Amino acid sequence: MKLFLDTANIDEIRTAASWGIVDGVTTNPSLVAKEGRKFTDVLQEIVSIVDGPISAEVISTKAEDMVKEGRELAKIHPNIYVKVPTIPEGLRATKQLSSEGIRVNMTLVFSSMQALLCAKVGAAFVSPFIGRLDDYSETGMEIISEICQIYRNYGYKTEVLVASVRHPVHVKEAALLGANICTMPFSVMEKLPKHPLTDIGLAKFLADWQKVPKS
Ligand code: E4P
Repeated sequence: MKLFLDTANIDEIRTAASWGIVDGVTTNPSLVAKEGRKFTDVLQEIVSIVDGPISAEVISTKAEDMVKEGRELAKIHPNIYVKVPTIPEGLRATKQLSSEGIRVNMTLVFSSMQALLCAKVGAAFVSPFIGRLDDYSETGMEIISEICQIYRNYGYKTEVLVASVRHPVHVKEAALLGANICTMPFSVMEKLPKHPLTDIGLAKFLADWQKVPKS
C-alpha cells in the first residue's frame, strides 16, 4: 500500500520523506490555509521534495471553471493530481480533465455509489473520507470494503485512496482491505514505526552490550 502524507507543511513533509516511506502528498484548501503561504509556492516546494503524486484541489464549483483551474494546476509539475469535489459538476470536469490526460483525485467521497461514479468518469484516485464518517457514528471503513469490491467486480483502474485518517488502526484496516493508498496526517505517520517493546528491547540490548568485554 502506498503511504501519502496529508499536509501542506514543508517541515513535516521533509521529515517523513527522509524516512523513505512517503509515496505522495495530499493537500486541501484547509491544509494550505494553515501554512499562510501562496498555494503555488507551497506546491513547487512539495514537488521538489517528494517524487510522487501531489494532490492540489480546485476551488471552483462549475465544471468549466474547474477544468480551467485543473489545467493550470497540472501545468505546475507532471506529478500534480488535480483534486475535484464529488458533485455532478465535478464529475463533468473530471471526465474532461481525464480525457486530456490530466490525473484527477476525486475528493469528499462519503459513499460507495459516489465512488462508482468517480471510476466511471476516469478519476485516477478516489478519496473516501473515513474519519469524518466515523465522526457521525458510521463505520467509515465499511465503504472502503464496498469500493474495493465494486472496483474489483468491474476491473476499474481508479485507485482507492483512504483519506481523513485519524489513527494507525485506520491505516492497518486500509491495508487489510487492499486499498491502494492511505493518506494520513504527520501525527499518524510518526506513530507507525513506534512500539514500546521496541524501545524497551533496544534499551536492554544496549545495556547488555556494556557487559561484553571489549578487549
Ligand atoms: C484528503 O485528501 C483530505 O485532505 C483529508 O484526508 C481530510 O481529512 P480530515 O477529515 O482530517 O480533514
